[in-house]
Amino acid sequence: MDLKGKVIVITGAAQGLGFCMAEQLAERGARLALVDMNQERLDGAVEKLGTIGCDARGYKVNVAVEDEVVALFASVCSDFGALNGLINNAGITRDHMLIKADHREIRKKMSLDEWNAVIAVNQTGVFLCGREAAANMVTHACEGVIVNISSISRAGNMGQTNYSASKAAVAAMTVCWAKELARHNIRCAAIAPGFTATEMVTSMNQTVLDVITAQIPLRRLAEPEEISRAMLEIFENDYINGRIVEIDGGLRL
Ligand SMILES: NC(=O)c1ccc[n+]([C@@H]2O[C@H](COP(=O)([O-])OP(=O)(O)OC[C@H]3O[C@@H](n4cnc5c(N)ncnc54)[C@H](O)[C@@H]3O)[C@@H](O)[C@H]2O)c1
Repeated sequence: MDLKGKVIVITGAAQGLGFCMAEQLAERGARLALVDMNQERLDGAVEKLGTIGCDARGYKVNVAVEDEVVALFASVCSDFGALNGLINNAGITRDHMLIKADHREIRKKMSLDEWNAVIAVNQTGVFLCGREAAANMVTHACEGVIVNISSISRAGNMGQTNYSASKAAVAAMTVCWAKELARHNIRCAAIAPGFTATEMVTSMNQTVLDVITAQIPLRRLAEPEEISRAMLEIFENDYINGRIVEIDGGLRL
């Protein structure tokens, strides 16, 4: 796909990896619909992209709420007149061990709220946005690409029952959509980043971060730009479909 003039929706675009991908797409001349729940940061992101000449608009939407997602894609199509891409990037963590036990005494369990919160955003949000994006690409007769952001943690990571489950689901949905949507001229692929220097990770306890970094063969976190480059390749290489691109510095969980 030639990105110039293409309309791309990015969820979780107000900061971190989402904003980095927005900047890279803006440099290629794409028109951007930035989606986030944080209005202040969203406004800042739209303004920044405007200064480099990008046609960008902000949409305050919770990707886990069906009505909001349906309305979002209808608005984007009416505002921009087309829809060519979706980056399913919004994601959260609520890390805890499944159980914490002291000898035979259970101190804490991962709560159902912690489970539900992560599944709602990372899994249901991806499903809803993917479904609405595909439906609107088809009805507007647009060629399209869907890029899902999974994670190295999809293999199963300590303290991340909820997050790992959601990111494994994202990888599986990617393969389903690649098979189902190719007939509609829509490709789908995913990126599984390793630990990346965004607020999600840099806000972690430094001791934990040091332990993680020591296990990465390259001995450092990824820069958001290094992850984001794979997104450009997925959009621009028309033969990439149904695969999960791993960018993790060689770390295997
Ligand atoms: N940072 C990493 O190491 C890493 C590694 C692997 C995968 N990922 C994935 O990459 C993606 C981006 O992560 P990041 O590190 O940039 O995180 P981040 O916390 O810096 O940014 C996430 C953005 O998503 C937004 N968001 C959260 N819930 C939302 C919702 N319900 N609706 C709309 N927007 C919502 C937040 O407001 C925020 O702007 C996530 O899916 C994350 O799981 C990150």
